[in-house]
Amino acid sequence: MEPVHYSVQGNDILRIFRENFSKDDPVLFLDGTAGEGGHSFLFLNEFPRSKVILCDRDPVMLQRACARLARFQDRVIPIETNFSKINADLLNEHGIAEAPQGILLDLGISTFHLFHSGRGFSFREAEPLDMRLSEDGGPSAAEVLNLYPKDRLLHIFYTYGEERWSKKIVETILERRKKNPFSTASDLADLISKIIPRKFWPPGRHPATRIFQALRIEVNQELAHVETGVNTLLELLRIGGVMQVISFHSLEDRIVKNLFRDYAKQNGFELLTKKPILPSEEETTENPASRSAKLRVLRKTKSVDKKYGKREFEEEEEE
Ligand SMILES: C[S@@+](CC[C@H](N)C(=O)[O-])C[C@H]1O[C@@H](n2cnc3c(N)ncnc32)[C@H](O)[C@@H]1O
Repeated sequence: MEPVHYSVQGNDILRIFRENFSKDDPVLFLDGTAGEGGHSFLFLNEFPRSKVILCDRDPVMLQRACARLARFQDRVIPIETNFSKINADLLNEHGIAEAPQGILLDLGISTFHLFHSGRGFSFREAEPLDMRLSEDGGPSAAEVLNLYPKDRLLHIFYTYGEERWSKKIVETILERRKKNPFSTASDLADLISKIIPRKFWPPGRHPATRIFQALRIEVNQELAHVETGVNTLLELLRIGGVMQVISFHSLEDRIVKNLFRDYAKQNGFELLTKKPILPSEEETTENPASRSAKLRVLRKTKSVDKKYGKREFEEEEEE
């Protein structure tokens, strides 16, 4: 049986869109991280005249989301793309001549990636250590481990994984790869379990959690895409529109927080979340994976500053 799929902070996200759009508005949503289509399902259900531009960089996930949303087929426009590459030209190519009004990014990977993708996201499986979400993902996780120089590995593990055992882990990796290159996820996970003494294991989590997260971020260049994506999507957003971003990692959240704050300082954007919205206790009990989620929301009130590029959709200035 498929595990239950939770759409993180679905109630908060719907409430914010409800506060900004009427139920009968023909809202054009853009879901930049379709996943299983859970959030888009909520939008299509709640706003019966809405449409959703449904994007994911992983073709497998986009297909899964489309299958989940099959009953709304006429109101869904699927596009396989990295959200950092979405612009007016790309939307035009798919027959979309308007700018989106409601944008959502729900960052990271899905439960499917962890347990069923066979790409080495899970510690327990002897799967190939790949971790690429799409073909534009650069080297595989195994290539990073087997080929990257010491300093780069240290930077990745300390910065993206905040792993205090990074030095010892990197030294052991360098020794081991000389004779026996890494190829499977469980192989790496077992090695890390041996390096970090049991008393320092994070409570309730596998000791390799931080290293796996760091590798995934590097392989998919996740932080760079968040930075570019937030900028380009805010440029695209229609006046009066709202962008919501859920992040799960402190570095990701810092990027979103700083960008939203900088935009809000300019005339043309309003920050709707001075502090991030966190999942309720009820939600974290039901879905522990939502524990680290942070939701930030920005509304576009006027045309963007030239600094952020030219606008390619015709928009009417608000009074
Ligand atoms: C947490 S899941 C989204 C779950 C979804 N909101 C739902 O309710 O089913 C994140 C998804 O974003 C996709 N993703 C991650 N980074 C991306 C990027 N830069 N561009 C497009 N999709 C991305 C992943 O492939 C994954 O399917």
